[in-house]
Amino acid sequence: MAKTCLITGASSGMGKTTALHYAAKGWQVFAVARSADKLAELAASNSNVKPVSLDVTDSVALANWTAGLPAGQKFDAVILNAGTCEYVEATDLDLAAFERTFAVNVQGVVACTRYLLPLLNKGSHPTLAIVSSMSHFFPFTRAEAYGASKAAVAYFAESLRVDLADTDINVCLIEPGFIDTPLTRKNDFEMPFLMAPEDAAKRIFKGISDGKTRLRFPRRLSFVLKTLGLLPYNLRNKIASKMKQQ
Ligand SMILES: NC(=O)c1ccc[n+]([C@@H]2O[C@H](COP(=O)([O-])OP(=O)(O)OC[C@H]3O[C@@H](n4cnc5c(N)ncnc54)[C@H](OP(=O)(O)O)[C@@H]3O)[C@@H](O)[C@H]2O)c1
Repeated sequence: MAKTCLITGASSGMGKTTALHYAAKGWQVFAVARSADKLAELAASNSNVKPVSLDVTDSVALANWTAGLPAGQKFDAVILNAGTCEYVEATDLDLAAFERTFAVNVQGVVACTRYLLPLLNKGSHPTLAIVSSMSHFFPFTRAEAYGASKAAVAYFAESLRVDLADTDINVCLIEPGFIDTPLTRKNDFEMPFLMAPEDAAKRIFKGISDGKTRLRFPRRLSFVLKTLGLLPYNLRNKIASKMKQQ
């Protein structure tokens, strides 16, 4: 029988390429996002894709949708990828931008976990994958909202893994670097080691299939950021400030 996965944020970028990759491998893919038109297009391109128009910040809609699934519907993998990025000004913090960012990147992940965890196909080593980011490895300029939300969700994933350790569910934390998607196309700064979303999808598929607990790609960026983190604290802060001025 075909395996089944659910991917949030599947109407665009990395979620879309990941949905198409899983579908091409013969999986049944529940593709979740708000844009019904984009999801319909995706489903038209591959019959393994089932469009699910949902807002991950609407926990009532999530509860109703999961309650309405056919009895016995289970998922072998759930990939919580929906996310948003807004930059802020430190001297005039936009509280609404923080609320929007945390609603999708943190509360949306928690709500999806709440309603989808019971639907994981226990007994067949299912995966719950949560997409954070390398942004929280280093203090980037204007990333107070985005970076903080990704730090929060990384912690959430790791704490969840501890509490699910006696189950057969693999909690996989995904921390990408720069991926060429609509989210990063609005960036006006240089993005080192920018990766194609199709490459990201391949790594996600392989990493989850191999039962990895953490995925970081591209590895070169992770190495650079982690090395910067080993420097004396004040030196690291100076480098971060220098980057801001560039
Ligand atoms: N691109 C990068 O360099 C990069 C690096 C590290 C981490 N990430 C993370 O990777 C994930 C995917 O990013 P991406 O670059 O592929 O961005 P993207 O192209 O902008 O895609 C974001 C996806 O999230 C969906 N989404 C946003 N808000 C939603 C909501 N309230 N409910 C349901 N779906 C929602 C969007 O669909 P709708 O608008 O149709 O709802 C879209 O499908 C995000 O979590 C992002 O933070 C990206």
